[in-house]
Amino acid sequence: MASKKAEKPFLTDIKTLRDRARKHIEDGAVTPGYQADREVVVNLLNAALATELVCILRYKRHYFMASGIYADAVAQEFLQHANEEQMHADQIAARIVQLKGEPDFNPDGLATRSHAEYVEGENLIDMIKEDLIAERIAIDSYSEMIRYIGDKDPTTRRMLEGILAMEEEHADDLAGMLTELDV
Ligand SMILES: [Fe+2]
Ligand SMILES: [Fe+2]
Repeated sequence: MASKKAEKPFLTDIKTLRDRARKHIEDGAVTPGYQADREVVVNLLNAALATELVCILRYKRHYFMASGIYADAVAQEFLQHANEEQMHADQIAARIVQLKGEPDFNPDGLATRSHAEYVEGENLIDMIKEDLIAERIAIDSYSEMIRYIGDKDPTTRRMLEGILAMEEEHADDLAGMLTELDV
């Protein structure tokens, strides 16, 4: 089939794209076509990073402190979640750098910057409940960020959607555990 040449291409022509890419090369992945407010996105991502870091610490504490009849299986779940939150933290930090921002790993004020809380929990059930609350907070805040970003930064949006899907799995796992433990 012969391809018709579009009279008015809806994409920016290749020369303009190349010229744009050459300008401000030091901006790395951030091109003049970037539609979001970069600073706002970096700030949102730093809040998400703080949330993930607090979640890693809480799950690690729970992993090491889990005890009781069902502790082994639950502890393994806590550990897996801790490792997955670590992956999220790494993805978010890498994206912040791509956006010419700086990931905030400062332990001072970490708990204040985080959306989710660090709660130790008195026993296994308490721990699972606190983790479920934290996951539900993460689900809400990631959903809000995704809505805010909309179509303005598809790469960040895709990353956040991937993370959100995993937080939903985490919440589902924890809710399942509560059902199994019959509470
Ligand atoms: Fe996470
Ligand atoms: Fe999670």
